[in-house]
Amino acid sequence: MESLALTATIAGDRSLAALMFQYKEQAQNNLEIYRQSPSIQVACIYNAQGTLFAGYESPQNKCQNHQEDIPSKESGLLSASVPIRKNGETVGYVYLASDAREIGVYVSKIMQISSTVIITVLAVTLLLTLYFQHTISDPILELASTAQSITASGNYNVKARSSYPDETGLLANAFNEMLLEVHKRDNALMQANEGLEERIAVRTHELEEAKHKAELANEAKSEFLRNMSHEFRTPLHAILSFSAYGVKEYKNAARKELLKYFDQINKSSERLGKLVNEVLDLARLEQGCLILCPRYADLRELANQAAESVQSLMMNKNISLRLDHAHEAVGALCDHDKILQVITNLFSNAIKFTPERHTLTLRTRIQKTGAKEEAVVSLADEGVGIPEGEQEAIFESFRQSTRTNTGAGGTGLGLAICRKIITAHQGRIWAQNNTAEAGSTITFCLPAVHEIIHPSMISPQEMSHESLYKI
Ligand SMILES: Nc1ncnc2c1ncn2[C@@H]1O[C@H](COP(=O)(O)OP(=O)(O)OP(=O)(O)O)[C@@H](O)[C@H]1O
Ligand SMILES: [Mg+2]
Repeated sequence: MESLALTATIAGDRSLAALMFQYKEQAQNNLEIYRQSPSIQVACIYNAQGTLFAGYESPQNKCQNHQEDIPSKESGLLSASVPIRKNGETVGYVYLASDAREIGVYVSKIMQISSTVIITVLAVTLLLTLYFQHTISDPILELASTAQSITASGNYNVKARSSYPDETGLLANAFNEMLLEVHKRDNALMQANEGLEERIAVRTHELEEAKHKAELANEAKSEFLRNMSHEFRTPLHAILSFSAYGVKEYKNAARKELLKYFDQINKSSERLGKLVNEVLDLARLEQGCLILCPRYADLRELANQAAESVQSLMMNKNISLRLDHAHEAVGALCDHDKILQVITNLFSNAIKFTPERHTLTLRTRIQKTGAKEEAVVSLADEGVGIPEGEQEAIFESFRQSTRTNTGAGGTGLGLAICRKIITAHQGRIWAQNNTAEAGSTITFCLPAVHEIIHPSMISPQEMSHESLYKI
């Protein structure tokens, strides 16, 4: 409508001069231009009185002769009537009518095209949406739900489906690889954890064992110190009290009485000296500071020597000795003094714990143990015997059997020293009770040596380097 009104105004302006000078032909020519525009059906110019001055008409529609005859609304037409003014004064009117049906056809064509385009675009969009949903959204949603289910279940064997060779497929593959890596690390972590727990358990066990051993060692040390101080105190106390008594009474006391004091002081000193020597021996053996000088020995001879050294002790108690020696040499490489010390100690125990007028039996022999041969020495007595269950304990320092520990005398170090010496010679020593008669037997064995290695056959170098060894 606006466009039509504008066109009418332009037409009025162009025809103003023609209208002023009543130049109808010119006005008619001006209107002929609308013949080019098929939509304009009627174009009429009226003068100030409303009488038709010039007009362009289509075959279907005609100009009314008077402006007042123009119907206000004609069906199928759009119309516009505008005044023609000169200096504010109305000199005429222009009436234009355009065919509205053509516009409707045009608009409906545009509508058709637009709707076709919109439908096509919608269809294409829908297809694209379906395609992208199928190729992008679905795999991503599937990936998300797989990730959620793995998080919830912790099952890393679940895999994301990668059926497309595009970016989503790459994403799924990358996700699966990441899962595999996480799974591997998870397993490694679990194994490390399990291993760690096992290692901690093993270490804890080792530490507990070490702690237990340390506690036992500490307890043994305390017991050793307790025993030692007790053993030292008894003879020391005797020496102190008898010497003090002697100093006090030396003027008044009879000589016999003084002799008794001196005798007691002498015995206690001997006991103290023996104790100090034994403790020193034991300490040296335990620290590995004792040097052995191994030489060939026929143990029969060493046993006889030891027996001779305790002969007076045996005679005191009327104890006799039976010798049961092997016919062949009972050879061993050993430190003679130390083995003599061992046998003498066995004799002193046997004599101490055997009643008067009984017999000791000293045996020597060569014994086969598997592929090895051993030189064996045993001393059997007819004494009190050793209670079952204590036959191993009596080899510990300061240990005395429950059968003899009341007033038998002794410190309980002799057998501990014997075991250290025998072990240093790669041998064994043990105690057992006699099966038939009363009493017990202590036996030790050393690796047997057959040929006689005379001391002169060992060079001074061998004596100092190879034959001397430290324990
Ligand atoms: N032949 C034996 N018969 C019975 N008991 C024995 C015999 N030999 C050793 N024992 C027991 O073993 C203990 C330890 O003996 P060991 O020789 O080590 O110490 P001890 O004789 O008591 O003292 P010492 O240090 O003076 O030798 C003895 O006290 C005794 O109880
Ligand atoms: Mg003893």
